[in-house]
Amino acid sequence: MAEKRIFSGIQPTGRKHLGNYIGAIRQYVEGQDRGEAIYCIVDLHAITVPQDSAELRERLYDTTAILIAAGLDPDRCILFRQSDIREHTELCWLLGTVTAWGDLNRMHQFKEKAEQQRELVSAGLFFYPVLQAADVLAYRATEVPVGDDQRQHIELMRDIAERFNARYGEQLVVPEGRYPEVGARIMNLQDPETRMSTTYGSEQGTVYILDPADAVRKKIRSAVTDSGTEVRRGPDKAGITNLIEVLSVVRDTPPDGLEREFKGQGYGDFKAAVAEAVVEYLGPVRERYEELRPDEAAIEDTLAAGAEKARAIAAGTLADVRRAIGIGAPG
Ligand code: TRP
Repeated sequence: MAEKRIFSGIQPTGRKHLGNYIGAIRQYVEGQDRGEAIYCIVDLHAITVPQDSAELRERLYDTTAILIAAGLDPDRCILFRQSDIREHTELCWLLGTVTAWGDLNRMHQFKEKAEQQRELVSAGLFFYPVLQAADVLAYRATEVPVGDDQRQHIELMRDIAERFNARYGEQLVVPEGRYPEVGARIMNLQDPETRMSTTYGSEQGTVYILDPADAVRKKIRSAVTDSGTEVRRGPDKAGITNLIEVLSVVRDTPPDGLEREFKGQGYGDFKAAVAEAVVEYLGPVRERYEELRPDEAAIEDTLAAGAEKARAIAAGTLADVRRAIGIGAPG
């Protein structure tokens, strides 16, 4: 294939935080320079757990505005809403017929999310990885930039594509996951043994993209560290290691360079430097977000334009897939 086709999906739920930014959003922006980039806001995945309808729409606009504020340019990528493209749900069903039930039953994310549900563990939650496979395979994407937590879902979608091709001929592209080298796992600042996340971990330990500068400073300066004094990475230094990784990404400097730079300095100075760097990094994103977010009609226009481009690609794949399987009228 001449050019890379990059595809990723992001949930329109939760407040987006530094972990999402570094682990995923940053790679989306960079993907626009490396190939044809397609990004999908996955509202159909969101509803695998209960959502308030009005809230879901609000969060979808928030997420779209954050992505554009972060640097996604709707003229240079395809940015669209999953539920606008019916081909995703159709392909999800078709792929379900070549997915091993036992594989779905082994998904860590399903087990984790199932445990958190009080009322209902939906079959949709169980099928979530198949819809995710459909998202990517409908576009015959070659590369999927995601955070480290998505490895198992990516391996599954590769298996699904391979099984489909083995059964029906080479119809689908088997995509590669792309994981950030540094910063794939940004940890909670108050509990550096667990990932930064909206669902687990303390609020104080989570830096949100839209946090005001003072809140960012406060959270980083009060990050939990160890009882030592050296600014270096190490298995017994989860807090400092995490902050080094954060700084490495936001300053675009390798971690060992930072270890040399901060040698002999105390944790206080180091944290202050990280705080300022993160404030500078996120500030412009928050400002652009504030400008974009109020104009929901403009956001809808952007999504509609993206959907049109997305549909043209997905419809072609579905026509091929239907023909290969032998369903629908021949033609
Ligand atoms: N499951 C992904 C997450 O939670 C979101 C997602 C849905 C996705 N569809 C996708 C990611 C397709 C990559 C490709 O982050």
